[in-house]
Amino acid sequence: MLAKNYSSVAQIYSHLMRSIDYKMWAKYVYDLSRLNGKRNISVLELACGSGEIAGFLSKKIKDYTLCDLSLDMLLSMENKLSKINCDMTLLPFKRKFDFVFSTFDSVNYLLTKKSFVKMLNSVEICLAENGIFTFDVSLDANSLNNQKYLNRSGMYGEFKYEQISRYHRSKHIHRNKFRITDKLGSTFIENHKQRIFLFDEYFEMISKTNLYVYGCYDAFSFSNASSSNERAQFVLKKRKNNADI
Ligand SMILES: C[S@@+](CC[C@H](N)C(=O)[O-])C[C@H]1O[C@@H](n2cnc3c(N)ncnc32)[C@H](O)[C@@H]1O
Repeated sequence: MLAKNYSSVAQIYSHLMRSIDYKMWAKYVYDLSRLNGKRNISVLELACGSGEIAGFLSKKIKDYTLCDLSLDMLLSMENKLSKINCDMTLLPFKRKFDFVFSTFDSVNYLLTKKSFVKMLNSVEICLAENGIFTFDVSLDANSLNNQKYLNRSGMYGEFKYEQISRYHRSKHIHRNKFRITDKLGSTFIENHKQRIFLFDEYFEMISKTNLYVYGCYDAFSFSNASSSNERAQFVLKKRKNNADI
């Protein structure tokens, strides 16, 4: 049976991500949040998944809101943080946040330039005047170098799973197919599709909005990114006037 993305995968997500050092990732995001220069910031985490980063960051930041398109991912969390089930291209918030971020190439799920720009505009509306929006993107090298590790199968709890990962380089699309079978023998299939935009295309899309690139780093560092990196970390701010850029 075809399942909604991150419904069945939500059941095994923590297992699939077991080798990810979320503590280190959260520390990096925290360091990025300090670029804001403000104490006691309010935070919105987009596409938060099962809240692994929030588990670390919310210990340091009290005003913390999470959101994700997948209700199952949000429900897989046990913390008491404020959680909203929504699409990052259509954020429903009336309030402003000092720091908005997303991790783990979640924004690569936006498949067209139009939807990417829509997401940027949606974030801009709920970003405080001196706020920061940061997100990482998975680039061509990440798909090429790491596709082999994403073809895997195994058991987790009562679930049997198989993941098939294919990067269609000429189409700039990375697909992951998950086949998950539960203890009753029912099989659920999820087809995930991510767009691997060219490095320069991000700058082009951002330039169409009221945000500008304050920094763009090789992920997990503060060194400038390049198109050959596996993952780039964009740090955006709101334009005030042309003199800011
Ligand atoms: C690879 S997971 C990353 C989850 C989490 N950020 C992490 O670091 O583990 C991608 C997440 O993006 C979410 N997502 C995909 N498209 C979305 C959209 N348009 N709006 C909000 N969330 C979305 C999925 O539901 C999923 O939880």
